[in-house]
Amino acid sequence: MKGILLAGGKGTRLFPITHGVSKQLLPIYDKPMVYYPLSVLMLAEIRNILIISTPEDLSLYKRLLGDGTQWGISLQYAIQKKPQGLAQGFILGKEFLGSSSVCMILGDNVFYGPNLETHLFEAKQNATSNNCATVFGVRVNNPSQYGVVNFDQNNQAISIVEKPPTPSSNMAVAGLYFYPNSVVDIASRIPFSDRGELEITSVNQTYLIQKQLKVVRLGKGFAWLDTGSPESLLEASQFISTIEKRQGLKVACLEEIAYEKGWITKTQVLMRGNAMGLTPYGRYLTQRFS
Ligand code: TTP
Repeated sequence: MKGILLAGGKGTRLFPITHGVSKQLLPIYDKPMVYYPLSVLMLAEIRNILIISTPEDLSLYKRLLGDGTQWGISLQYAIQKKPQGLAQGFILGKEFLGSSSVCMILGDNVFYGPNLETHLFEAKQNATSNNCATVFGVRVNNPSQYGVVNFDQNNQAISIVEKPPTPSSNMAVAGLYFYPNSVVDIASRIPFSDRGELEITSVNQTYLIQKQLKVVRLGKGFAWLDTGSPESLLEASQFISTIEKRQGLKVACLEEIAYEKGWITKTQVLMRGNAMGLTPYGRYLTQRFS
């Protein structure tokens, strides 16, 4: 399985901040936002990843993340000329994907909660062995900003509607999607929506109709944070700061994940830590791994 990380978009809800800088480069407490979704792909043991961003911002992601060898992964890059929707990522990534299944994650989504890795491995398995897609449903108090899932009495997903003005459930679809390779074909066949985007919800509806969509509910203790507004950006930083201080462990520390997966050595982790000096992130690496 390969990964696609979407780091484009306009970031209109963060204007004027995003007039000058790409949203996914902004800090969530002690590290760039894009580290969080990248850490999720790494936890899923997806090591071939395509980062997609705007023509203006792509070079900044290359500068920040490089070719990924520092984390034992391979990063490639592609430009999305205009923000024409999440599903366009599969068309832009067609060559990169080849015949692989894919996990797509949004560059501004933070996931933190119990059994994350188990959910990831099950979704990966569902795509690679069962030819089925998996999306994750999370309860939110503002569902009309997202794709919303409706369930029947037997808890089976029966519909997914994009940004419904009067949502019939509180279950939003999170920005983490697993698909078999057929997604490339499906994405190239869906029409543009009224707002001029290739909607991921149209892709998910197709899998739902084909009875090839699993909707996994992430329960009460699970934090799925959208970081796209000033308020949610601040709240996400406070959340990560609180968790990290209490536990003495970092969330989305890419070197730590790479080391635990056996992709890089302790010496490599320490070199990265030393290069970052006395920042909390740098000190974490040098103290934890020496
Ligand atoms: P959104 O939050 O829907 O859009 P945005 O980031 O442009 O922000 P705003 O709503 O404030 O204008 O995008 C979700 C994620 O997907 C975000 O990380 C940006 C990314 N994205 C793309 O990479 N390409 C796209 O065409 C779109 C629509 C989003």
